[in-house]
Amino acid sequence: MLDELNLIYKQALGSLQETSTREDLESWYRQTLGRKGQVTQMTRQVGQLKPEERPMFGQRVNEIKQELQLAYDAQLDKIRTAEIESKISSDEWDVTLPGRRRWRGRLHPATQTLREIYRIWGDMGFQIYRSRDVETDEYNFELLNIPKDHPARDMWDTFHTTTPGVILRTHTSPGQIHAMREYYPEPIRVILPGMCYRYEQITARSEIQFNQVEGLAVGENISMADLKGTLSDFAKRMFGQERKIRFRANYFPFTEPSAELDVECILCGGEGCQVCKHTGWLEILGCGMVHPTVLRNGGYDPAKYSGFAFGMGPERIAMLKYGIEDIRAFWGNDLRFLEQF
Ligand code: PHE
Repeated sequence: MLDELNLIYKQALGSLQETSTREDLESWYRQTLGRKGQVTQMTRQVGQLKPEERPMFGQRVNEIKQELQLAYDAQLDKIRTAEIESKISSDEWDVTLPGRRRWRGRLHPATQTLREIYRIWGDMGFQIYRSRDVETDEYNFELLNIPKDHPARDMWDTFHTTTPGVILRTHTSPGQIHAMREYYPEPIRVILPGMCYRYEQITARSEIQFNQVEGLAVGENISMADLKGTLSDFAKRMFGQERKIRFRANYFPFTEPSAELDVECILCGGEGCQVCKHTGWLEILGCGMVHPTVLRNGGYDPAKYSGFAFGMGPERIAMLKYGIEDIRAFWGNDLRFLEQF
């Protein structure tokens, strides 16, 4: 039986040298070392031997198995190399093919728009002032000249916490008070970006969370002309120097007078389209001269100081810019949407 084993070994080595493809090699493996292979069959026959012959036989079988395995590995290497060489020489290898780009992820469209806004205001001398998302009713409303039961509260549907008086900010305007109280009596030029929250039904046009970028300038002799000039400049830097803009009167409790800034529709250039609802204009931000009561609440005497403020929604601006029709796309986490930016 030992002779038979050695013979199988010799033959197996011989036939291994003759394999030239992976298929050949695999079928060789099955016939030799596989579960039903010849060498494996031999191990099962140990029981037919006399007890004193068994150890020697077992040892030999194991040696043979190991050697055949090594020979198999070497042959596999040889076949692989041959495959690569034949590919190279048969011109299947296109060295002019561009490499595969590595997937790197990207910035969220809201973040991209925010950064664009930061850059422009930064160029114009405004610093970023970070203010908290969790606010008090006092900062979010009262200090901004919106007393309890004031009808203007209906403009902001609020998320309340279980702690009375502690809410999620409905706009970035409470940051105005924080900035004024921190900087008084210095002049102020800041933008206040961040998430705002409103208790609203989620639809294509309204979300319960969205970013705002607030702006605040406080100092001596700041007039409505400064507001108009600064915001016009911003709108042109953001939407193009040729873009027409207009101010429309509006109402906010914390500014007086208050206005809305429109830019000529960036999609149709003022001709009228679905995005601008055929008006030719897009509403971009709310603004106004800081209300005397608000200045006073921030510590600045309105007889000596004045200022302007504004608030804009970067998601809204991104929607207008890219023609995004559903605001839910921003926080829906659908990569098919996000990967377009
Ligand atoms: N806080 C206002 C809003 O959320 C926007 C605004 C900010 C208006 C500052 C005027 C001045 O609608």
